[in-house]
Amino acid sequence: MRKVKVFAPATVANVGCGFDVMGLALEGIGDEITITQRADSKIVISKITGADLPYDPNNNVVGAALKALLAEHDQAIGVDIEIDKKVMPGSGLGSSASSSAGIVVAANILLGNPFSKNDLVRFAMEGERLASKKPHADNVAASIYGGFVLIRSISPLDIIPINYPDNLVITIAHPQIEVKTAEAKKMLKESVRLDDAITQWGNTAGLVAGLMKGDYDLIGRSIMDVVAEPIRSLLIPFYHEAKQKAREAGAIGFNISGSGPAMFAITNDLGKAEKIKSVLHHIYESNGIPINCYISGISSGGVSEKI
Ligand code: HSE
Repeated sequence: MRKVKVFAPATVANVGCGFDVMGLALEGIGDEITITQRADSKIVISKITGADLPYDPNNNVVGAALKALLAEHDQAIGVDIEIDKKVMPGSGLGSSASSSAGIVVAANILLGNPFSKNDLVRFAMEGERLASKKPHADNVAASIYGGFVLIRSISPLDIIPINYPDNLVITIAHPQIEVKTAEAKKMLKESVRLDDAITQWGNTAGLVAGLMKGDYDLIGRSIMDVVAEPIRSLLIPFYHEAKQKAREAGAIGFNISGSGPAMFAITNDLGKAEKIKSVLHHIYESNGIPINCYISGISSGGVSEKI
């Protein structure tokens, strides 16, 4: 029976200013999904490593995403699914999205690539709907497309890959506390003041322009968030100290990754990224909070098949 294994990168959603509309894919951190075609038409999750998640496909994001894909395919197939979780649930690094993106890309390969990337994002969003009630595409689109993406609209889906300077380096700091996206979404106000909306869309447009022009100063000025960060930062101990020290250590921009508690810093210099990593590590460890820190480039290709 045919088997397909993929690596689905973790992602940084929002990128500061682009709440639900911007995302980037990380290198080296991601889930591995393996599917094997079955002789019957059952969907079976046979193995999950790295996290304690439901084996029932109706309660697991991979089941929701795969069913959405199969519903638009004329040939009924069954698969065994193995999930190797490397992106911790509740980290802010797009854990549910990595698995949702991985399963739909793997299934598409198994079926001979009948679906477009946009279709795959649509299917993977059903995994996000299960995980966080409100479907959003910023993590799944970044994982599937790779690079930086702008989600201009989810209905209809309109995804725009954004060019970016190739020397950007991301430092991720993940204090070992869990924040559920559904909860972190509920905390936000339903409406935004006009002044704040003007600031936010100015910054989102500024970030896109900064990336495309390779203007680091503009990128840094634009990674600001007046919508989610003021509220969600309350859930992350020592957030403001972390941000200030990361900026002093050379971060061009710093903010919450997705709904947190992971934080990201962007630089254009590996030495500065190392310094930021050690500064952030020290703040949390010296306050008794275990933390994982990584340095990553931006994954240009998105979900990839592992041969
Ligand atoms: N855009 C989503 C949010 C990403 O901020 O709620 C969740 O990782």
